[in-house]
Amino acid sequence: MKKASKKVYIETLGCQMNKSDTERILGILSHFGYEASEGNEADFFIVNTCSIRKLSEDKAYSRLGVWGKMKKNRPDIKIAIAGCVAQQEKENLLKKFPYLDLVFGTHNIYELPKLIEELETPAADGSRKRICAIRDKAVPEKDFNIIRSKGINAWLPIMEGCNNFCAYCIVPYTRGRERSRDMDVIINEAKKIISEGYKEITLLGQNVDSYGKDLDGKPTFAKLLEELDKLEGNFRIRFTTSYPTDITDDVIETVKKADKICECFHIPMQSGSDRVLKAMNRRYTRVQYGEIVNKIRMQIKDVTITSDFIAGFPSETEEEFKDTLSAIEEFKLDYSNTAAYSPRPNTPAGRMTDKFIADDVKKKRLEILNNTVKAASKKSNEASVGKIYEVLVEKIKEEDLKNGSKRIAEGRSRNNKVVHFESNTAMAGDFINVKIKEALVWCLKGDEVK
Ligand code: SAH
Ligand code: SF4
Ligand code: F3S
Repeated sequence: MKKASKKVYIETLGCQMNKSDTERILGILSHFGYEASEGNEADFFIVNTCSIRKLSEDKAYSRLGVWGKMKKNRPDIKIAIAGCVAQQEKENLLKKFPYLDLVFGTHNIYELPKLIEELETPAADGSRKRICAIRDKAVPEKDFNIIRSKGINAWLPIMEGCNNFCAYCIVPYTRGRERSRDMDVIINEAKKIISEGYKEITLLGQNVDSYGKDLDGKPTFAKLLEELDKLEGNFRIRFTTSYPTDITDDVIETVKKADKICECFHIPMQSGSDRVLKAMNRRYTRVQYGEIVNKIRMQIKDVTITSDFIAGFPSETEEEFKDTLSAIEEFKLDYSNTAAYSPRPNTPAGRMTDKFIADDVKKKRLEILNNTVKAASKKSNEASVGKIYEVLVEKIKEEDLKNGSKRIAEGRSRNNKVVHFESNTAMAGDFINVKIKEALVWCLKGDEVK
């Protein structure tokens, strides 16, 4: 089946799940003689898209535009769109972008061998083939090799999809219902990752706490964590994302006891106002969110808790927006991702057009929200000064100084803080104890503890 070497270039937008999908796509394509290449020299161009906000969708189209122009001079190149925008827009994309050859959805990755074959077989009448492959439901995964991006961290999906249907969110429509991967498949993949030398595994799922609910015997997320923690080797485990009220005491207990599981939780709150939370179809109140955060903080020393917030959800008042700001302060959230609300097709909030907040108001609120997040991050970092953190080095940089240069190692602590320290010997992949001496807004500086 292997053919002469061809080159594929994949641009990945969106979340870690998409990054992981890209690694799977590259693995599958490698069976067809494709190897990954950078930019211009490729024969096959794929954009793996994100649809979470209008802006991310537009980014995908602008990539297609660039490649469409390129195709005028190189008519033989193939252009494909994958991911959440493909799943959402389906064959409309073939109509909208005449130079597009292939659209494949989030549930069609394992069909790529067939799709590529079809695309590469000339049509009987000599016309150009154009294919749209979108399934409504996921098919069972197949065992293809994965071509992981090099580095310290490896992505490991444990479940995919979402049953929550938050009013603003398109993910349940682009990723389908929750599906867990078998525990032994995950554990074998983890073993392989460790044997390949990665030092950190990040477990991925839209809601990791839903892990196992759809599997025989209903293994829990806590059980999976426990099993992964037992694997031999010097490595760390992280996981994302947690739905506030789905985090069980068992998970907290496991993170507390386990050796390899890092002390951090990403728990999107979305809004600090109960009325807005209800309108968003989130299943918890501000008080309940706080209780979970407090419980985790009481049990796990030095834990980092991060969140996501949306500014300007339809109907959000100034007062309600202020509740979000006060929640960040009250719950001492270490860091938060933020976004202005962006209407998404087919979602309940997207239909609340009469309650939309004006763009300039959303923009202003986002700016204020970002300032609050920034202040919270600085405060959280300041609390780290004087502590000793075990840092997993990710990269080495040279810092230019007036009198020569300094070799700076950059890595992250177990509780996910970015730490910089001077070192002549540290290498990517090393675990080094660092005493924190200075807190900046987004990172810490320290000295190696010899
Ligand atoms: N599964 C995770 C997050 C998925 S999407 C969870 O349950 O929270 C990542 C983040 O994008 C969300 O947490 C939300 O803050 C943001 N987001 C989702 N839809 C959005 C929209 N329509 N406009 C703005 N931000 C949005
Ligand atoms: Fe989207 Fe809500 Fe599901 Fe997260 S839990 S993916 S925000 S629908
Ligand atoms: Fe975006 Fe799809 Fe991830 S919409 S955030 S790429 S699941």
